[in-house]
This record gives sequence, C-alpha cells and structure tokens, in this order.
Amino acid sequence: MKIVSAKDYNDMSRKAANIISAQVIMKPGCVLGLATGGTPVGTYKQLIDWYNKGDIDFSEVTTINLDEYRGLKRDHEQSYWYFMHDNFFNYVNVPEENIHVPDGANPDSDEACREYEEIIRKAGGIDLQLLGIGTDGHIGFNEPGEAFELRTHCVDLTESTIKSNTRFFGSEGEVPKQAYTMGIKSIMQARKVLMVVNGENKADIVKAALFGPVTPEVPASILQMHPDFTIVGDEAAFSKIKDLI
Ligand code: GLP
Repeated sequence: MKIVSAKDYNDMSRKAANIISAQVIMKPGCVLGLATGGTPVGTYKQLIDWYNKGDIDFSEVTTINLDEYRGLKRDHEQSYWYFMHDNFFNYVNVPEENIHVPDGANPDSDEACREYEEIIRKAGGIDLQLLGIGTDGHIGFNEPGEAFELRTHCVDLTESTIKSNTRFFGSEGEVPKQAYTMGIKSIMQARKVLMVVNGENKADIVKAALFGPVTPEVPASILQMHPDFTIVGDEAAFSKIKDLI
C-alpha cells in the first residue's frame, strides 16, 4: 500500500492524474477502470488539460466504469454514462466504442452484469482502476456487508448512499434504489488500484479502511490486501492517520 499525501484537492487531483498519465504513456492501449463521484472530477480536469496541451493521448485507451444506476438511461442527466461524458469523455479522444459503463437501462440484471464481466474479460482485465470512497467505506457501489468474492452484480443502495447522492437529484425519491456495480472481486483483479480521497468527512473512513481490520463491513478495507494499491489524499482526509504514515 502506498500512501501519497497531498496538500489540498488540486494537489490530490494533479498527483492522481500524474499516475494515470504515466500508465497511459507506458501502455498506450491500456484499460482504465474509471469512477464517478465528486472526488475524481479534478483528476479528470487535469487530464483534459494535459490532453489539450498534447501531453497525453487516449486514442488507444479502453475505459471500463465501475457502476451505473439501474433504471437510468444513458441520456438521463444523473446516469453515470452522462456524468462521464460531461466530465471527461466529451473533452478527450477515447474512441466512443472503447467506452464501457454498465447498461442501467437493461432491466435484466443477470444479463447486464454477465455482459459487463464479459467486456472486462475480453479487454484483458483492468490495468489501472481509479476509485473514490463513500463515507461508509463503499467502493463502486459495494455497500457494507457485501461479499468480497462478488463480480459485477446488482445491489440495493443503502439509506446513507441514497441520502448522500440526493444532492445530485431533485429529491430523495428520485434517487434510484438499485445499481449495477463491479464487485470487489472484479476490482481486486485490476493490476493497479488508485484511490482518491479528500475532505474531513472522509477522515474516519480512511482510517478504518487503511488501518482497521479487513472486513466486509468496510468494503474498502480489502484494498490493504491488493498488491499494487495507491491512495492519494489531501490533508483533511488524512487528518486522522497523520501519526500512522
Ligand atoms: C458514489 C459512487 C462511488 C463514489 C462515491 C463517493 O456512491 N458510486 O464510486 O466513490 O459516490 O463520492 P464522492 O467522491 O462524491 O464523495
């Protein structure tokens, strides 16, 4: 586990973007596992900036996103497909056919999840998986208590996730109650995992995930066992582990 301290959100974003950029430069045809949420937005902005300057080229990259709300079509403004285009894909040159997000519009969850695992397999696995973390320790949409050995599957979102994602929807009632997510097993099979985290509200969960017991109650804690896991966090997010790093 590599713990990289950053001064603030911008510094965290730049450092994470540097790691992703190095991956793309070293292996132009790499497979990037991407994440939504507010935390990685700055990382995407930085990558867009370097793309515009001609420093990075995504023309051979394949992307595989972590998760999608079940029941939302791609063109819904809160779908993760939409989010990723709005924050990243519309501004860089990842070929459209290389972009993958679970199909939230497919009501057949078994089929949607099976097809997604097949996409990951055909792509040759994920080279670098970018992750955020929920305040309850969830990664992707793997909520506390989920079995570590699951691959892509359908989940019921917890009250706390629905509440914290209400800010993106008009009201709590509009937040979908289920999602398709890569499982912990799919995430653990990525060759590299990069987590970004910022803000004081993540300080407790960062401590529990990195230094607490490895338990399904804190899904991100499994990353302690990953052979190539890097976490980049700002001072506020690392405020409770200052003496441990
Ligand atoms: C959602 C996403 C997660 C993300 C989490 C935290 O639940 N499914 O992938 O890590 O939100 O989001 P934020 O970065 O906005 O705190």
